[in-house]
Amino acid sequence: MAEDIETSLSEVDGDNGRLTVCGRSLDDLAGRATYEDMLTLLWGTDAGHLGPGRLWAWQHLQAHWPVLLHTAPMDAMRAALSLLPVPTSHLAEASRLSATLGVVVAGLALGRCPDAPHPQVSHAADILRMMRGAPATPAEVAGLDGYLVTVAEHGMNASTYTARVIASTQAGVRPAVVGALCALQGPLHGGAPGPVLDMLDSIGTAASARSWLSAELQAGRRLMGFGHRIYRVRDPRADALKGLLHALRGERGAERLALAESVERDALDLLRESKPDRRLETNVEFFTALLLEALGVPRTLFTPVFACGRVLGWCAHVREQEDHGHLIRPRSTYRPAVHA
Ligand code: ACO
Repeated sequence: MAEDIETSLSEVDGDNGRLTVCGRSLDDLAGRATYEDMLTLLWGTDAGHLGPGRLWAWQHLQAHWPVLLHTAPMDAMRAALSLLPVPTSHLAEASRLSATLGVVVAGLALGRCPDAPHPQVSHAADILRMMRGAPATPAEVAGLDGYLVTVAEHGMNASTYTARVIASTQAGVRPAVVGALCALQGPLHGGAPGPVLDMLDSIGTAASARSWLSAELQAGRRLMGFGHRIYRVRDPRADALKGLLHALRGERGAERLALAESVERDALDLLRESKPDRRLETNVEFFTALLLEALGVPRTLFTPVFACGRVLGWCAHVREQEDHGHLIRPRSTYRPAVHA
C-alpha cells in the first residue's frame, strides 16, 4: 500500500473528470498555454534555460549517437541522461535533463544526429524541426505543444510516484527521472499508445470493430486506451487531445479519426456490457496515439514523446519531495505463503 502523498502541483478529480495543475484547470491550459508556460507554472521559474539546454545536450550527445541509435528508444533516453555531465543545481539539472529528452527523441526519429537546435524557438517547434530536418507548420507545432502541455503533470501516477520515492532517498534529480522513465514504459501506463494504433490497424474498418473487440474481451485481453485507476468518468485529457487532433487533421487524418471514433463507441458499449460494475472510459492514450500519428511521430517513439511532456511534472515533484525531506517507506503486510 502506497503512502498518501500531499502535493500542491495537481489535483486529479476522478469522480468529476477534472484535472487542475497548480490551481489552473486543464480546460484553461490545453490549447492556450505553451510548454514553456507549463514549465513556469510547475517549476515556479522562467523557461529561459530550455533552449540553451537543447544546444548543450546536442553538443554533448555528438559522440554518443552511434550507440543511442542502436538502442531501444526508452533505453536510449535513459542512457543519454546517464551519460551527460549534469550540473548540481536543481533548476539547471532539471532544465538540461528536460532539454536532453527533446533532442534525443528528435535524433531517434531522424535516425541520426539532428541539425543543431535553435534555442530561440519553442521546445515543441524545435523538436519537430529537428525530427524532420525541416520546420513544421504552425498547426503542427500547436498540436505537439498542446500535447506536451496536456500530459505535463497528472498527480501520483506510477512514474511520478517512482520519481518521488527515488527523490525521497536524496538520490537527486537525474536518478529520479531515469527511474520514472522505467515506470513510464509499461503498457499499463505510458506504453499504451503504440498498441492503440496496432489495435486500429488490426480492426481495419468500422464494420469489423465490434467483433474484433468482442473477441479480445472474450480472450481476457484489455482494450488499450480504456480504463483508468483514478477516473471513473471520461479522462478530461482525452477530449483535450481530441480537440487538438480535429484542428490538425488532413484528408487521411479524417478517415483515421472516423475509424477511431467508431472503435471508441463500440469499445465503450462492450466494456459496459462485459464489466457492468466497473466504469471503464476512454483514457488519454487513445487520442495520444492518433495525435502523435497525425504529427508523423513513429509509433516506437510515442512513449519517449510522452516522457518529453511528463518530465516537467517529474522534476517538480522531485523538488517538492526534496523540500519535504521525508523518506517514502510504506509498510508491508506479511502473509505467510500457504503450501498445499
Ligand atoms: N479493457 C478491458 N478490461 C479492463 C480494462 C480494459 N482497458 N481496464 C480494466 N479492465 C478490467 C480488468 O480486467 C478488471 O476486470 P476483473 O475485475 O473482471 O478482473 C477490472 O476492469 C479492473 O481492472 P484493474 O486492473 O483492477 O483496474 P485498474 O484501475 O488498476 O486499471 C488500467 C487501470 C491499468 C489503466 C487499466 O484500465 C488498463 O489496463 N487499461 C488498458 C491499458 C491502458 O490504456 N493504459 C494507459 C493508462 S493511462 C496512463 O497511464 C497514461
